[in-house]
Amino acid sequence: MKLFIDTGSVAEVEEIARWGVLAGATTNPSLLAKEDGEPEEIIRRIADLVDGPTSAEVVSEDADGMVAEGVALRGLDERIVVKVPFCAAGLEATSRLADLGHPVNMTLVFSAPQAILAAEAGATYISSFLGRLDDIGMDSAESLAEIVAAVRDNSTGAQVLAASIRNPIHVTTSATLGADVATVPGKILRQMLAHPLTTSGIDQFTADWQTRPEFAVWLKGLVDRSGATA
Ligand code: E4P
Repeated sequence: MKLFIDTGSVAEVEEIARWGVLAGATTNPSLLAKEDGEPEEIIRRIADLVDGPTSAEVVSEDADGMVAEGVALRGLDERIVVKVPFCAAGLEATSRLADLGHPVNMTLVFSAPQAILAAEAGATYISSFLGRLDDIGMDSAESLAEIVAAVRDNSTGAQVLAASIRNPIHVTTSATLGADVATVPGKILRQMLAHPLTTSGIDQFTADWQTRPEFAVWLKGLVDRSGATA
Protein backbone atom coordinates (compact mmCIF):
# COMPACT_ATOMS: atom_id res chain seq x y z
CA MET A 1 0.00 0.00 0.00
CA LYS A 2 1.29 3.45 -0.91
CA LEU A 3 1.30 6.25 1.65
CA PHE A 4 0.17 9.78 0.84
CA ILE A 5 0.24 12.64 3.33
CA ASP A 6 -3.08 14.36 4.07
CA THR A 7 -2.25 17.98 4.82
CA GLY A 8 -2.20 21.60 3.75
CA SER A 9 1.06 22.31 5.57
CA VAL A 10 4.20 22.71 3.47
CA ALA A 11 6.35 22.56 6.64
CA GLU A 12 4.84 19.22 7.57
CA VAL A 13 5.51 17.79 4.11
CA GLU A 14 9.09 19.14 4.23
CA GLU A 15 9.60 17.29 7.50
CA ILE A 16 8.03 13.97 6.56
CA ALA A 17 9.07 13.74 2.89
CA ARG A 18 12.63 13.27 4.23
CA TRP A 19 11.61 9.89 5.64
CA GLY A 20 11.31 8.55 2.08
CA VAL A 21 7.90 6.96 2.68
CA LEU A 22 5.58 9.34 0.82
CA ALA A 23 4.31 8.58 -2.68
CA GLY A 24 1.88 11.51 -2.92
CA ALA A 25 -0.34 13.95 -1.05
CA THR A 26 -3.92 15.01 -0.62
CA THR A 27 -5.29 18.40 0.36
CA ASN A 28 -8.83 19.59 0.84
CA PRO A 29 -10.46 23.01 1.28
CA SER A 30 -10.59 22.64 5.08
CA LEU A 31 -6.89 21.76 5.33
CA LEU A 32 -5.85 24.65 3.06
CA ALA A 33 -8.10 27.13 4.91
CA LYS A 34 -6.08 26.52 8.10
CA GLU A 35 -2.80 27.60 6.50
CA ASP A 36 -1.20 30.99 5.90
CA GLY A 37 -0.15 31.58 2.31
CA GLU A 38 -1.68 31.24 -1.12
CA PRO A 39 -3.26 27.90 -2.03
CA GLU A 40 -1.56 27.93 -5.44
CA GLU A 41 1.91 28.18 -3.91
CA ILE A 42 1.09 25.60 -1.22
CA ILE A 43 -0.21 23.06 -3.75
CA ARG A 44 2.79 23.54 -6.05
CA ARG A 45 5.28 23.20 -3.15
CA ILE A 46 3.60 20.06 -1.83
CA ALA A 47 3.65 18.49 -5.31
CA ASP A 48 7.37 19.30 -5.60
CA LEU A 49 8.16 17.87 -2.18
CA VAL A 50 6.32 14.57 -2.61
CA ASP A 51 7.04 14.42 -6.35
CA GLY A 52 3.90 12.38 -6.88
CA PRO A 53 0.13 12.62 -7.22
CA THR A 54 -1.14 15.63 -5.24
CA SER A 55 -4.89 16.07 -4.90
CA ALA A 56 -6.37 19.57 -5.06
CA GLU A 57 -10.12 19.90 -4.68
CA VAL A 58 -12.72 21.74 -6.74
CA VAL A 59 -15.41 23.70 -4.89
CA SER A 60 -18.02 24.49 -7.56
CA GLU A 61 -21.34 22.77 -7.14
CA ASP A 62 -22.14 22.30 -10.83
CA ALA A 63 -20.36 20.07 -13.34
CA ASP A 64 -19.28 22.90 -15.66
CA GLY A 65 -17.67 24.76 -12.76
CA MET A 66 -15.98 21.62 -11.45
CA VAL A 67 -14.54 20.83 -14.88
CA ALA A 68 -13.28 24.41 -15.35
CA GLU A 69 -11.64 24.42 -11.89
CA GLY A 70 -10.22 20.95 -12.43
CA VAL A 71 -8.62 21.84 -15.76
CA ALA A 72 -7.19 25.03 -14.21
CA LEU A 73 -5.78 23.15 -11.21
CA ARG A 74 -4.19 20.60 -13.53
CA GLY A 75 -2.50 23.47 -15.33
CA LEU A 76 -0.52 24.23 -12.15
CA ASP A 77 1.47 21.01 -12.26
CA GLU A 78 1.14 17.72 -14.11
CA ARG A 79 1.24 15.88 -10.75
CA ILE A 80 -2.03 17.48 -9.63
CA VAL A 81 -4.99 15.12 -9.28
CA VAL A 82 -8.38 16.82 -9.40
CA LYS A 83 -10.35 16.05 -6.27
CA VAL A 84 -14.10 16.02 -6.90
CA PRO A 85 -16.81 15.50 -4.25
CA PHE A 86 -19.15 12.56 -4.73
CA CYS A 87 -22.56 13.69 -6.05
CA ALA A 88 -24.39 13.59 -9.41
CA ALA A 89 -22.61 16.73 -10.65
CA GLY A 90 -19.33 15.29 -9.37
CA LEU A 91 -19.85 12.09 -11.36
CA GLU A 92 -20.51 14.10 -14.52
CA ALA A 93 -17.43 16.25 -13.89
CA THR A 94 -15.32 13.14 -13.19
CA SER A 95 -16.45 11.54 -16.44
CA ARG A 96 -15.70 14.70 -18.43
CA LEU A 97 -12.33 15.29 -16.76
CA ALA A 98 -11.35 11.64 -17.31
CA ASP A 99 -12.32 11.93 -20.99
CA LEU A 100 -9.99 14.95 -21.20
CA GLY A 101 -7.20 12.82 -19.73
CA HIS A 102 -7.17 14.34 -16.24
CA PRO A 103 -6.85 12.04 -13.20
CA VAL A 104 -9.62 12.44 -10.62
CA ASN A 105 -9.76 11.57 -6.93
CA MET A 106 -13.44 11.19 -6.10
CA THR A 107 -13.83 12.13 -2.47
CA LEU A 108 -16.42 11.69 0.29
CA VAL A 109 -17.18 8.08 -0.68
CA PHE A 110 -18.72 6.08 2.15
CA SER A 111 -20.28 3.02 0.52
CA ALA A 112 -19.65 0.35 -2.11
CA PRO A 113 -22.52 1.53 -4.35
CA GLN A 114 -20.99 5.03 -4.39
CA ALA A 115 -17.57 3.54 -5.14
CA ILE A 116 -18.96 1.55 -8.08
CA LEU A 117 -20.43 4.75 -9.56
CA ALA A 118 -17.14 6.62 -9.03
CA ALA A 119 -15.15 3.85 -10.73
CA GLU A 120 -17.50 3.69 -13.69
CA ALA A 121 -17.36 7.49 -14.09
CA GLY A 122 -13.60 7.15 -14.56
CA ALA A 123 -12.11 8.12 -11.20
CA THR A 124 -8.43 7.21 -10.82
CA TYR A 125 -8.72 7.25 -7.01
CA ILE A 126 -11.77 6.57 -4.86
CA SER A 127 -11.44 8.12 -1.39
CA SER A 128 -13.05 5.77 1.10
CA PHE A 129 -13.50 7.65 4.37
CA LEU A 130 -12.92 5.80 7.65
CA GLY A 131 -12.88 8.27 10.56
CA ARG A 132 -16.08 10.06 9.62
CA LEU A 133 -17.92 6.71 9.57
CA ASP A 134 -16.55 5.84 13.02
CA ASP A 135 -17.76 9.27 14.19
CA ILE A 136 -21.37 8.28 13.47
CA GLY A 137 -21.02 4.81 14.99
CA MET A 138 -20.66 2.90 11.73
CA ASP A 139 -18.12 0.18 10.94
CA SER A 140 -15.49 1.86 8.77
CA ALA A 141 -13.53 -1.36 8.23
CA GLU A 142 -16.63 -3.11 6.89
CA SER A 143 -17.26 -0.22 4.50
CA LEU A 144 -13.66 -0.19 3.27
CA ALA A 145 -13.65 -3.98 2.78
CA GLU A 146 -16.82 -3.75 0.66
CA ILE A 147 -15.41 -0.90 -1.39
CA VAL A 148 -12.13 -2.76 -2.03
CA ALA A 149 -14.03 -5.90 -3.07
CA ALA A 150 -16.43 -3.97 -5.31
CA VAL A 151 -13.71 -2.01 -7.09
CA ARG A 152 -11.40 -5.02 -7.48
CA ASP A 153 -14.09 -6.84 -9.39
CA ASN A 154 -14.40 -4.25 -12.12
CA SER A 155 -12.02 -3.44 -14.91
CA THR A 156 -11.81 0.33 -14.55
CA GLY A 157 -8.42 0.27 -12.84
CA ALA A 158 -9.63 2.66 -10.13
CA GLN A 159 -7.55 2.64 -6.96
CA VAL A 160 -9.03 2.67 -3.46
CA LEU A 161 -7.56 5.45 -1.34
CA ALA A 162 -8.29 5.12 2.38
CA ALA A 163 -8.96 8.60 3.79
CA SER A 164 -10.17 10.24 6.99
CA ILE A 165 -7.47 8.32 8.83
CA ARG A 166 -7.53 9.13 12.54
CA ASN A 167 -5.08 6.67 14.11
CA PRO A 168 -2.33 4.16 13.22
CA ILE A 169 -4.80 1.25 13.44
CA HIS A 170 -6.74 2.78 10.54
CA VAL A 171 -3.54 2.61 8.49
CA THR A 172 -2.94 -1.05 9.33
CA THR A 173 -6.59 -1.87 8.64
CA SER A 174 -6.36 -0.13 5.26
CA ALA A 175 -3.28 -2.14 4.29
CA THR A 176 -4.65 -5.49 5.43
CA LEU A 177 -7.98 -4.92 3.68
CA GLY A 178 -6.23 -4.19 0.40
CA ALA A 179 -6.49 -0.43 -0.06
CA ASP A 180 -4.10 0.75 -2.77
CA VAL A 181 -3.25 3.96 -0.92
CA ALA A 182 -3.81 5.48 2.52
CA THR A 183 -3.63 9.24 2.92
CA VAL A 184 -2.44 9.92 6.43
CA PRO A 185 -2.17 13.14 8.47
CA GLY A 186 1.31 14.08 9.68
CA LYS A 187 0.30 13.60 13.30
CA ILE A 188 -0.64 9.96 12.62
CA LEU A 189 2.52 9.32 10.57
CA ARG A 190 4.53 10.51 13.60
CA GLN A 191 2.48 8.22 15.88
CA MET A 192 3.36 5.33 13.55
CA LEU A 193 7.04 5.85 14.41
CA ALA A 194 6.55 5.30 18.08
CA HIS A 195 6.97 2.12 20.08
CA PRO A 196 8.30 2.03 23.66
CA LEU A 197 10.45 -1.03 22.94
CA THR A 198 12.08 0.76 20.00
CA THR A 199 12.93 3.75 22.20
CA SER A 200 14.27 1.63 25.05
CA GLY A 201 16.16 -0.59 22.60
CA ILE A 202 17.98 2.38 21.05
CA ASP A 203 18.78 3.74 24.51
CA GLN A 204 20.22 0.35 25.53
CA PHE A 205 22.38 0.01 22.38
CA THR A 206 23.73 3.52 22.94
CA ALA A 207 24.49 2.91 26.60
CA ASP A 208 26.25 -0.41 25.90
CA TRP A 209 28.35 1.10 23.09
CA GLN A 210 29.43 3.93 25.40
CA THR A 211 30.90 1.40 27.86
CA ARG A 212 33.61 0.85 25.22
CA PRO A 213 34.91 4.34 24.26
CA GLU A 214 37.52 2.80 21.92
CA PHE A 215 34.67 1.56 19.71
CA ALA A 216 33.61 5.16 18.99
CA VAL A 217 37.20 5.99 18.02
CA TRP A 218 37.30 2.97 15.70
CA LEU A 219 33.99 3.87 13.99
CA LYS A 220 34.99 7.49 13.45
CA GLY A 221 38.28 6.31 11.95
CA LEU A 222 36.42 3.89 9.67
CA VAL A 223 34.18 6.71 8.40
CA ASP A 224 37.18 8.98 7.84
CA ARG A 225 39.13 6.26 5.96
CA SER A 226 36.18 5.43 3.74
CA GLY A 227 35.64 9.08 2.81
CA ALA A 228 31.90 8.56 3.30
CA THR A 229 29.82 11.73 3.59
CA ALA A 230 26.17 12.27 4.41
C1 E4P B 1 -8.55 13.31 2.24
O1 E4P B 1 -8.46 13.26 1.08
C2 E4P B 1 -9.74 13.73 3.02
O2 E4P B 1 -10.17 14.98 2.63
C3 E4P B 1 -9.38 13.69 4.47
O3 E4P B 1 -8.71 12.47 4.73
C4 E4P B 1 -10.56 13.89 5.39
O4 E4P B 1 -10.16 13.64 6.71
P1 E4P B 1 -11.07 14.05 7.97
O5 E4P B 1 -12.32 13.25 7.91
O6 E4P B 1 -10.22 13.73 9.16
O7 E4P B 1 -11.35 15.53 7.81
